[in-house]
Amino acid sequence: PNGKGTPTTAAPMKRAEPLNLDDDLLGEVTSGARALVVCPDIRGADYELGAQERLEEACGLALAIGIEIAHSYVLPVRDVRPNTLFGAGQVERIGTECEQHEIELVIIDGALSAIQQRNLEDALKRKVIDRTGLILEIFGERAATAEGRLQVELAHLDYQSSRLVRSWTHLERQRGGFGFLGGPGETQIEADRRMIRQRMARLRRDIEQVRKTRSLHRDRRERAPWPLVAIVGYTNAGKSTLFNRLTGSDVMAEDLLFATLDPTMRAIELPGMEKVILSDTVGFISDLPTQLVAAFRATLEEVVAADVIVHVRDMANPANAAQKQQVLDVLADLGVGVGEGDDGHEPTPVVEAWNKWDLLDPETREELGQAAANDPNVVPISAARGEGIDDLRTRIDAILTADARCYELALPATDGKRLAWLHQHGHVLSQAEEEGGLVARLSVRLTPREYGRFRSLSATDAA
Ligand code: GTP
Repeated sequence: PNGKGTPTTAAPMKRAEPLNLDDDLLGEVTSGARALVVCPDIRGADYELGAQERLEEACGLALAIGIEIAHSYVLPVRDVRPNTLFGAGQVERIGTECEQHEIELVIIDGALSAIQQRNLEDALKRKVIDRTGLILEIFGERAATAEGRLQVELAHLDYQSSRLVRSWTHLERQRGGFGFLGGPGETQIEADRRMIRQRMARLRRDIEQVRKTRSLHRDRRERAPWPLVAIVGYTNAGKSTLFNRLTGSDVMAEDLLFATLDPTMRAIELPGMEKVILSDTVGFISDLPTQLVAAFRATLEEVVAADVIVHVRDMANPANAAQKQQVLDVLADLGVGVGEGDDGHEPTPVVEAWNKWDLLDPETREELGQAAANDPNVVPISAARGEGIDDLRTRIDAILTADARCYELALPATDGKRLAWLHQHGHVLSQAEEEGGLVARLSVRLTPREYGRFRSLSATDAA
């Protein structure tokens, strides 16, 4: 912002400044920037979604981190130019549009090589980021778990190290307009590379450490007697809105344990049941760049352990069928069996929350309403308006308790702890004292999983 709308007309940098890796490597800069989003449609390329859908997705991603989109379009590319991706005329066109719309940031929704990025920045005199850069920003903002954050930083460094001349993350905001054009001297680049390598090595060690610690936490949680419900869904489907809706005022003191581990987990109450742990996840995205896959997965580990998965779908999005397939593909990648348990794993039950019902036109609503009525695993909702939320709770509850059966148990009448547990978690149908009050005999409805937890509770106490 120099008041002229073209903040990045850069003079080459005179002096190489040391790379400060602790300095907001992630996020920052982009928020609030006026952007042009260009979705290259490369002839012969194998895309998962149509060009228009990809463009919309990219815009959605940009909006999600507070970028202002001034203009956006699909640009067909016949032959990829190694130096600029686009042809000279196209680059010129983009340049003109940048001037017209007072663009500060150009987002290319595709992969740019370091050279292409550099040359485009030179030609356009603006920051240019590609799809990986954009997604990294989002992961950086959203990564909630310790491992997630470390993985994102690792991915970011990896990405950056291939693009020294430094990325725009360190650019003119700190340097008052002396931007990304021109680069630090060779020696400086070498020093930067070394620093990045060291930092990456340390990150890998940290990730290992976090993994070890986490498995301790997870053991503890497995012993914590609550089922886990994971919310998944395509980016922008409404997961966070639903999460907030479901947790609302229900947040309890016990959650602090989880809150400190991970702010995206909360306990909720279900109608017929005790507590359930609800976990929100990062949004799924099409064509995830491979170097981001580890970072993405690290944010999804709760899904693997879930008792029920709530799949939030944006039914108002025309691409919602393709999005659903992508979500299912990712779940399969994670090794979560959904639907048929064909690989020997117990499949995880999935409830589809058909969200944004309020945005549907009457005909679509009618049509989808019938489909939903015929499918017990579908619940129409509007997370934003709070409609259908009770139905969804009831549905989750029904799944969690579907396979409950009656167990006849006898335990010492003095075992107050386990007796209390049974009353809290199961549905006690009858209780009687025997052997002169020494033994309590109960008939309790429990799910097999709860019964397993009860057993492990006994084992732990006995040990
Ligand atoms: P990511 O974090 O990007 O994966 O998104 P998300 O799935 O968490 O979506 P989020 O809850 O952030 O919602 C995305 C947008 O959809 C927001 O602007 C919400 O206000 C809007 N939204 C969510 N649910 C509804 C709904 O039921 N109706 C309408 N009209 N808008 C909704």
